[in-house]
Amino acid sequence: MSSIATTQIIRPARTLQGSLTVPGDKSISHRYAMLAGIAEGTSKLSNFSTGADPHSSLGCMEALGATVVRGADKTVEVTGTAGSFIQPAGALDCGNSGSTMRMLAGLIAPHPHTFTMIGDHSLTMRPMERIRKPLMQMGAKIDLVDGHAPITIHGGPLTAIDFDTPIPSAQVKTAVLFAGLQAEGTTSLSEAVRTRDHSEHALRAFGATLTRTGERLSIAGGQKLKAIEATVPGDLSSAAFFLCAALLFPDSNLVLDSIGMNPTRAALLDVIVALGGRIKVLQVEEHHGEMIGTIQVNVAPGGLKGAEISGALSAQIIDELPVLAAIAPYTRDGITIRDAKELRVKESDRIALVAKNLKAMGAEFTEYEDGLAIPGNQKLHGAVIDSGFDHRIAMAFSVAALRASSENEIQGAEAAAISFPEFFTYLDSLCQC
Ligand code: S3P
Repeated sequence: MSSIATTQIIRPARTLQGSLTVPGDKSISHRYAMLAGIAEGTSKLSNFSTGADPHSSLGCMEALGATVVRGADKTVEVTGTAGSFIQPAGALDCGNSGSTMRMLAGLIAPHPHTFTMIGDHSLTMRPMERIRKPLMQMGAKIDLVDGHAPITIHGGPLTAIDFDTPIPSAQVKTAVLFAGLQAEGTTSLSEAVRTRDHSEHALRAFGATLTRTGERLSIAGGQKLKAIEATVPGDLSSAAFFLCAALLFPDSNLVLDSIGMNPTRAALLDVIVALGGRIKVLQVEEHHGEMIGTIQVNVAPGGLKGAEISGALSAQIIDELPVLAAIAPYTRDGITIRDAKELRVKESDRIALVAKNLKAMGAEFTEYEDGLAIPGNQKLHGAVIDSGFDHRIAMAFSVAALRASSENEIQGAEAAAISFPEFFTYLDSLCQC
C-alpha cells in the first residue's frame, strides 16, 4: 500500500445507474498465482486482480523462482518452478495480504529452505497460530513472534494429517491443502462451516485430484501441477459495494458483467434479495469450476426491509459485512450481525471501525463482541471517516456517504487499492448527484 495518505470527498447522490465490470476476483487471483508458480509450464491468467494483495502473491512467486510477466490489459503470465521453489534471497513480503501469508505458508513449508515471511503493520497484528498448528502437525518447523508475523519456516518433508478446521477459514483450509498436495500420504480435512471452495476448483484446474466423501475433503501428496490458461471472474466482494449502493436509491439500475457467482461466495445475493433488492441473472457460464454471470440489480417497490445475519451466514459473507453494516441505518428495520467475531482480526478490527464511523455520522447502534445491531430508519450526516487503512472500511463508508445529508471525507482512501484501485473512479461515473 502507498504510504501517501489520500482523502476522498463523497457527496450525497440521487441515484446509481449504469453497467460495471469489476476487476478479477482477489481470492481466485491469489490461488492462480500460487499454483501457477509451483506448476510446470507457463500459465496465462486473464483478468487478473488489479488489487495490490494478489500482486504481493505474484511478487512472492518471483522471489521463489517463478517468472512473472505482467502484460497490458490485466493479463499475467507465470512460468512456474515445476515443483521446486528456490531459496529466496530475502524475506517474502506479503504486504497487507493475510491470504498471501497464510496460503503461501502451506505451499512453501515442504520445500528444503528457510523462509521468512513479513508483512505491513496490519498483517503483523493478525493471528498466524491458526496455520502453524496444522502445518506443525504435518511436521513443519515454524517460528512466530507471539503468534504473529514475521514467520520463519524451516522447510522440509511433511506427512499427511486428518484435520478438522476449528475456525471457518478458507485460508487455513488452503494452507493445509497446499501442504497436503506435497506431503507423504493422503491429507484429509473437514470444515464445521463450509468456506469458499476456490482452492478446490483451482487445484483441480491445475490437474490435481481431490475427493470429497460427505464433509471430508482428501488430497493425495506427490501430485504435480500443469500450467493452465484461465480467466479470473470479476470479484463479487468488490461488486458488493456497488450492489449495496444501488440498494440505496429507489430508481437505481446496475448491471454487473462477468461476475464470479461461485455458490460459496454468493450468499450476499440472497441477503440482498431478503433486504428487498431485485436481482436478475441475465447470463451464467462455468470456467474451471467457477460460475461467472451477468446480473442486474435494482430495488423492489417498498424499499429496503431489514436482515438478521448470524451463524454460518456470517462466515460466508464475512467480507461483505462492513458494507451491509454501512447501509443498515438506511433500511426500514435495521440489520443485526452476530457470530462475526472474525471481523475483529481482519485488516483492522472491523467491528470497532464500523462502530466508530457510524457514530461519527450520527447513527445509533449496539456493539457486541461478535457483531453489531443497527436500527433502521435513521438519518446520517456527513463526517470525517477513518478507514484505518482498511480497504473494505474505506469503500463501505463511501457507500454510506451517498445517502448522508452532507459530504463525507474519507481519510486513508488509498487503502481501497488493496483490492479495488478503480473504486473511486467507478463510483464517480455511476453515481448521479
Ligand atoms: C479469503 C478468505 C477469508 C476472507 C479473505 C479472503 C480467501 O478469510 O476474509 O478476504 O481468499 O480464502 P478467512 O479464510 O481467514 O476467513
